[in-house]
Amino acid sequence: MTRISSEVETGSREEMRAQKDLERIGALGEEVKAAPPRRLYIKTYGCQMNVYDSERMADVLRPLGYGLTDSPEGADLVVLNTCHIRERATEKVFSELGKLKAMKAETGGRMKIAVAGCVAQAEGAEIMRRQPAVDLVVGPQAYHQLPELIARAHRADGEALSADFAPEAKFDALSAGGAERQVNGVTAFLTVQEGCDKFCSFCVVPYTRGPEWSRPAAAILAEAQALADQGVREVTLLGQNVNAYASEIGGLADLARALSRIDGLDRIRYTTSHPSDMRDDLIAAHGEIEALMPYLHLPVQSGSDRILKAMNRGHTGDSYLALVGRIRAQRPDLALSGDFIVGFPGESDADFEATLALVEAANYASAFTFKYSRRPGTPAAAMSSQVDEAVKAERLARLNALIEALRQAFNAAQVGRTLNVLIERKGRHAGQIGGRSPYLQAVHLDGDERLIGRIVPVRIDKLGPNALSGALEPDRSKSFEAA
Ligand code: 5AD
Ligand code: SF4
Repeated sequence: MTRISSEVETGSREEMRAQKDLERIGALGEEVKAAPPRRLYIKTYGCQMNVYDSERMADVLRPLGYGLTDSPEGADLVVLNTCHIRERATEKVFSELGKLKAMKAETGGRMKIAVAGCVAQAEGAEIMRRQPAVDLVVGPQAYHQLPELIARAHRADGEALSADFAPEAKFDALSAGGAERQVNGVTAFLTVQEGCDKFCSFCVVPYTRGPEWSRPAAAILAEAQALADQGVREVTLLGQNVNAYASEIGGLADLARALSRIDGLDRIRYTTSHPSDMRDDLIAAHGEIEALMPYLHLPVQSGSDRILKAMNRGHTGDSYLALVGRIRAQRPDLALSGDFIVGFPGESDADFEATLALVEAANYASAFTFKYSRRPGTPAAAMSSQVDEAVKAERLARLNALIEALRQAFNAAQVGRTLNVLIERKGRHAGQIGGRSPYLQAVHLDGDERLIGRIVPVRIDKLGPNALSGALEPDRSKSFEAA
């Protein structure tokens, strides 16, 4: 994995950069003024941070006349915001680009195609070589440069490729450029940290997203306040290692406490965390901050100490379980989630059995499972004794069956309880509304859509395959405003 140096951004002083960006956007804005409204289609792959980045790309492009559309047909600009974490994710991008190429030809080349995200970061030049229909490539730390890159692509006067490694420049430019954040909904993602220094031996993230970096708390609080002003009741704080967050305010616990004081912001979640960064004050916060929801995504990847060592995880199965025990001592009802990789190089039957044992011991409410995918450039890709695909598939099926049973048991335990549900949307059927429990379970109920944005007590009466259903607690409905 090579870093692609930027052709666009050369200045070092933040102010100069922000000023330059403003000037560029201003100049381009003049060109755009005469043009009809432009249609923007963004397809997002991968993690929640990409979802956040896609929203912010739309914010950056809105002042230039771009409005979102939900199909690539007829779009003036198509952005694929890509994921590089597993081989299949990368291949999907190239197959989508093949389809877009034909669509672009039908427009006589008017449609512009951009590749953003982690594939852009890792393989930018390769993408342009392999698929000439691509007009521009923009890494995840450079999307504030989109206006400039689009202008270049239109003028064909230079390489429209940028893959900077400085998230601070991105966030500075976003606020300086007045890219107002627009949300439609009562929940929102909020990036607070980017990058990873952990270098798990299977993972591309430290190479594609760069070193750990935390956003200043003042900027986060301002963005959160703006979200609350637009009616957002729940924020999920995002970071590749979000619990490594450290800024002028302190750590993630301090940030969560400050956010919990914002009027209207009643629910806070964060993802994804590394066990080594679970500081004492953050563990304590789970028992202290009411707005901090009892849900935690804390990946362990494997239950075998031998494999954890080869993965360079920096913890053992037992230390992970002890940590979970300490968090549950603060928040006994915690819904625990995690990530697992099966078929890491050298994983034996006994190693896999250790994973199953850990899953049972930790008693997950849900988890994400993956077959190990060999990523060129990572240490694990070069390890001998790669596991057979058929063995991976069989282990994945067994692990999934166990996790599904635990998920169902966790959900079944809610039947008969009253849960506070944040109503997020209308349901599929008339008169139905839907939202999420504190444990992030989907909940359906009959109710007025004016309840969207309210947190209401719902008595859970049924367990469906993917959601709980229940009814509004009549005698407690006057406490609608309470969390
Ligand atoms: N193969 C399979 N899964 C992977 N993940 C990261 N890298 C790989 C890989 N090479 C999984 C990990 C991580 C999640 C985001 O993706 O479980 O926690
Ligand atoms: Fe990848 Fe490990 Fe960093 Fe998570 S902690 S992003 S798995 S290197």
